[in-house]
Formats: sequence, structure tokens, C-alpha cells
Amino acid sequence: MKFVTAVIKPMKFTEVKAALDKAGVSGLTVSEVSGVGRQKGQTQVYRGAEYSSNMLPKIKLEIAVSDAFADTVIAILREAASTGEIGDGKVFVFDLAEVLRVRTGEQGDLAL
Ligand SMILES: Nc1ncnc2c1ncn2[C@@H]1O[C@H](COP(=O)(O)OP(=O)(O)OP(=O)(O)O)[C@@H](O)[C@H]1O
Ligand SMILES: [Mg+2]
Repeated sequence: MKFVTAVIKPMKFTEVKAALDKAGVSGLTVSEVSGVGRQKGQTQVYRGAEYSSNMLPKIKLEIAVSDAFADTVIAILREAASTGEIGDGKVFVFDLAEVLRVRTGEQGDLAL
């Protein structure tokens, strides 16, 4: 199993979520986060608010998937999260040792 963490532009969240739903992603966790990438110190305007620090609002997605499904999810993120501009985000992929569905006690792929 893999654990895919993606940091994306908030304006792209609806499109990314729809694409993941369509592909059959069964669950995910979403957080509102702040982050910074390579353009450190660059002041940008986001929805009318100027951020004087170099932190920008982003959406973080966390998705646990089977090994067989990981490349599909990464490809969806590449396509649906892209605007072609700076700040489009990053995708981090981890090996996932174990998953437990608390209600049933199922583990591994069965628990996804
Ligand atoms: N090396 C990193 N480690 C952890 N989080 C990162 C890293 N790089 C980027 N991020 C996260 O991803 C968000 C988006 O990064 P961003 O897309 O600006 O990366 P970038 O490398 O600057 O690429 P680009 O040049 O396309 O802007 C950041 O706000 C931050 O939350
Ligand atoms: Mg950047």
C-alpha cells in the first residue's frame, strides 16, 4: 500500500476531488494548510488578501491506496491539480505499512 500526500491550490480542490471520486478513491482526508515552496519571500495576492509572509494557503490531501492504484492516483493529481503556474503543488508518496478499519478489524488492502 501507498500513502499519497498532495499539497494543492485551494481553487483546484473541487476538480481534484471529483476526479478522485470518479476513479473510485474510497476515502481521503483533507486539511487547510499553509505552505511555502521555491519562490520564498514572494508576496502574492490570494482572493483579494495580500499575504505579507511567504506562507500561502493550500489544501492537503491524504489518500491511502493499494499499490496497484497508486500510479493512477498520482496521474489524476498531476492532471487535475495543474494550472501550469507556480505553486501548483507537490505530491509525496510513502510506503504504507498497515491500515486498520476500526469497525471490522480488517487490515491491509481489505481495510482501504
Ligand atoms: N520540499 C517541500 N517539502 C514540504 N512541502 C513542500 C515542499 N515543497 C513544496 N511544498 C508544499 O507544497 C506547496 C506548493 O509548493 P509549490 O508548488 O510552490 O512548489 P515549488 O517547488 O515551488 O514548485 P513551483 O516552482 O511550481 O511553484 C507549498 O506551499 C508547500 O506546502
Ligand atoms: Mg512554488
